[in-house]
Amino acid sequence: MSARNILITSALPYANGHIHLGHLLEYIQTDIWARFQKLRGHNCHYVCADDAHGTPIMIRAKQEGITPEKLIADMSVAHQADFAGFHIDFDYFYSTHSPENEAFAQQIYLAAKANSHIEEKTIQQAYDPKAKMFLPDRFIKGECPKCGADDQYGDNCEACGASYDTTDVINPVSTVTGTKPINKETDHYFFKLGDFQDYLEDFLNSGAVQKEIANKMKEWFAEGLNNWDISRDAPYWGFKIPDSDNKYFYVWVDAPMGYLASFQKLCESKGIDFNEYWKPDSEAEVYHFIGKDIAYFHTLFWPALLKAGNFRSPTGVFCHGFLQVNGAKMSKSRGTFIQASSYLKHLNPEWLRYYYAAKLGNTVDDIDLNLEDFIQRVNSDLVGKVVNIASRCAGFINKKFSQTLSTELANTSLYQEFIDASESIAELYEQRRYSKAVREIMTLADHANQYIDEAKPWVLVKDAERINEVQAICTQGLNMFRAIMVYLKPIVPELAKASEDFLNAGELSWDSVQKPLLGREINQFKALMTRADKKQVDAMLTENQQHLEAAQAASQTESKQSESQLSKDPISETISFEEFSKVDLRIAKIVKAESVKKANKLLQLTLDLGGEQRNVLAGIKSAYAPEDLEGRYTVMVANLASRKMKFGTSEGMVLAAGPGGEDLFILSPDSGAKAGMRIK
Ligand code: 2FM
Ligand code: ZN
Repeated sequence: MSARNILITSALPYANGHIHLGHLLEYIQTDIWARFQKLRGHNCHYVCADDAHGTPIMIRAKQEGITPEKLIADMSVAHQADFAGFHIDFDYFYSTHSPENEAFAQQIYLAAKANSHIEEKTIQQAYDPKAKMFLPDRFIKGECPKCGADDQYGDNCEACGASYDTTDVINPVSTVTGTKPINKETDHYFFKLGDFQDYLEDFLNSGAVQKEIANKMKEWFAEGLNNWDISRDAPYWGFKIPDSDNKYFYVWVDAPMGYLASFQKLCESKGIDFNEYWKPDSEAEVYHFIGKDIAYFHTLFWPALLKAGNFRSPTGVFCHGFLQVNGAKMSKSRGTFIQASSYLKHLNPEWLRYYYAAKLGNTVDDIDLNLEDFIQRVNSDLVGKVVNIASRCAGFINKKFSQTLSTELANTSLYQEFIDASESIAELYEQRRYSKAVREIMTLADHANQYIDEAKPWVLVKDAERINEVQAICTQGLNMFRAIMVYLKPIVPELAKASEDFLNAGELSWDSVQKPLLGREINQFKALMTRADKKQVDAMLTENQQHLEAAQAASQTESKQSESQLSKDPISETISFEEFSKVDLRIAKIVKAESVKKANKLLQLTLDLGGEQRNVLAGIKSAYAPEDLEGRYTVMVANLASRKMKFGTSEGMVLAAGPGGEDLFILSPDSGAKAGMRIK
């Protein structure tokens, strides 16, 4: 078979949040497929990027008192660290906020405009007069027009599940300033999706999209495809629309173009011909892996935009379902909204890769990560079945036969079964039916273990006349182990690497199975994988929860601060004198102040309370340099319960006033006040 040219992408993660285990279902699914294609010897490229534009990023940056550029740069570092931790092996990871991407957005838009696929229309949109900006639906909250539930988003109700127009929300408020939005006229640009109806129908009928998704999309054709609003008004964090009066491309326009831009960067660095992959009649293959929630963008808008820009359509758009944890939607309150970084601190990434693979098929069904089943499955399959084959055989070869394999297998017909499985397992990978592939591989592992059980090398080794049989039996066992590691290599690349080191015969490729390793020296066997333990899972959940709570507290403080920047801060409800007197306010001397690396807002303060020292993390970095604080006196809440935060434990709170950012002022007592004095 000749080598295929394949380009693979995963959906671009938003740059306004961290990677969690739900995201990873997709990146692991895609990475396994990319590694599989490479292992089969194809020219395969896997690219991705951060999705770096849009209102949420603009607002979050403002709340944090940083530029959007800084926010997306920091997030890119964090995302890439998480991906590397899970061995997601992108050939290129870029950002949609790049000159290449802007050029693609302009090129495709101008081509669409030149062919009359763009229409201008005046529309009414919700507008926040205080923030002086138009509001996306997500930034409006109010009562649900169907069930009356309070505090619901502008487009749908989490209480009753209804979808509605923002204009129907009862008592709407802008989440940016807390004011009532007004309706305001504005001119927008629309992409005439209907012009591409025939093309899209052909695309959906071509087999490029799973049947259930294609059928769902075709339902839209019956009603006629609506024009798509591709513009947003300033202020907006994105690319300006050429020849427009302060209009920007909606984030979903330039997001998928990030696939092109990232691949173009890869082409430049590796000397690959970009056009070979993207010209209209290209024979190369292009696949997008995505979640089912964004099928509309990828199977209608995106192919139409590509067509408008004279690019080919994707060979396949592969949708997967959502991740559930312990049988329910991932939830912050249940503590199952698990961040990638929390997982990585406690658990082996290959356990999750294996578990996801063992559950993934090529349908859009949701996948359940049951944490008990996860521990059980990893231990019984990877450690108990696979690694066990090697550990049962290696000791004899290492100790009794100078680490050398026999020159013949003990049972060639059994080994033939392992060779014969090659194509059917490959076909299952190709079709993304990983769970079925894993089942077949584990059946092979069962056969290998049964063989060793019956051959009993540990008995034969005691019989001087039969000792040579032991070498052949263990050589047989290790070759079966090797075949299994070839088949599992796309799923557990690090375990495969450790096995390659142990077998001492170079990198395993898909065809390595065809020829067993014989008469060669192997290396000393070391434990290839440890067992998963419930304690590790519990520790991960605890840490993750602390993480979420700290992030939530920080974002509440941030949004309060930003609200008060834009509106007057009302005086809180009254409290009784008894309640007030519970607060133990003390004069504190700042003896040391240090910046907390990686934290945008925090300084670590060592406070002297007149003999007692306290470590306090204070969110005042944007207002004070550490050296300006050392030696100063301030006021602290001394009896606030200690709080464990991501960057350490804070033992109290320093009092400061102001809206935030640079406008934050710590309280200072008059001269004469001494450290430790109680404020009365
Ligand atoms: O849904 C999301 O998370 C988007 N950031 C995916 C974008 S995929 C591509 F189109 F850029
Ligand atoms: Zn409702």
